[in-house]
Amino acid sequence: MTRHLLRDDDLTPAEQAEVLALAAELKAEPFTHKPLTGPRTVAMIFDKPTLRTQASFSAGIAELGGNPLIINGDLAQIGVRESVEDVARVLGRQVSQIVWRTNDHHKLETMATWADVPVINALSDDFHPCQLLADLLTVIERKGSLVGLRATFVGDGACNMGNSWLLAGATAGMHVVVSSPEGYEPSAAMVGQAAKIAAETGGSVGLERDPVAAVAGADIVITDTWVSMGKESESTDRLAVLAPYSLTTELMSGAKPDAIAMHCLPAYRGKEIEAGFIDGADSVVWDEAENRRHAQKAVMTWLEARR
Ligand code: NVA
Repeated sequence: MTRHLLRDDDLTPAEQAEVLALAAELKAEPFTHKPLTGPRTVAMIFDKPTLRTQASFSAGIAELGGNPLIINGDLAQIGVRESVEDVARVLGRQVSQIVWRTNDHHKLETMATWADVPVINALSDDFHPCQLLADLLTVIERKGSLVGLRATFVGDGACNMGNSWLLAGATAGMHVVVSSPEGYEPSAAMVGQAAKIAAETGGSVGLERDPVAAVAGADIVITDTWVSMGKESESTDRLAVLAPYSLTTELMSGAKPDAIAMHCLPAYRGKEIEAGFIDGADSVVWDEAENRRHAQKAVMTWLEARR
């Protein structure tokens, strides 16, 4: 049966470990796997802005022997000019895989139902699983393994990155804490799903309102923009409410001495992350950005083998 990567818990703990091991292998030897030889085409559709995702998928698809095809979301107008179901059936006849960045997560599920080829979520309002695989690869490089590590996400815990850290961290057997102001917590359903996974992996999940308490003893501290794509009209409120959750040198001083700071980028220096801190010794953001390519190559290779 065709597999997809729409949300982080689409991978079991064993499958996540397998994809991460493959990502490390592909990073060490980038040109050894050519599952897209032909070249076979992978479509990338962007309904929201992109830099890292377009660059890393394009380069990665080429390295796997394939042909990267970028589809401009504004021109395609999926769901407006044509239904998601019809687009899925048309694209599924042309390409080997579909990578889609869009807003409503349900549209990705519809695409996966109808396309007959693997569909990869390149960010939706709810999840960013490709970023999480890159992030977990980065943590493995720095810490050796994932099980038992304490990862604290500070800021907008209801955004795609908060959700994805809950699910992917729990899948990896980590202890994930999300620290957000009132109204910006992940949903109870999301926390419940992550807790269910954590019960199987030996990890845990928790919410902690106080960012200082949340970061205390953390191995990893993560943040993300306070104004995700599509939330621009809420900008003023968000910047005010989330201000106490800024990832600063002072906040980080409560984490373990060898803790690392993560951010998926783009970063707004002086807002969710202290200006200068992002370039400091604790920050691994550039490795995360590079690892997008290796992680996504692993995902595409893994999915291709299961078609
Ligand atoms: N939460 C951010 C992630 C950007 C990669 C957003 O959705 O805009």
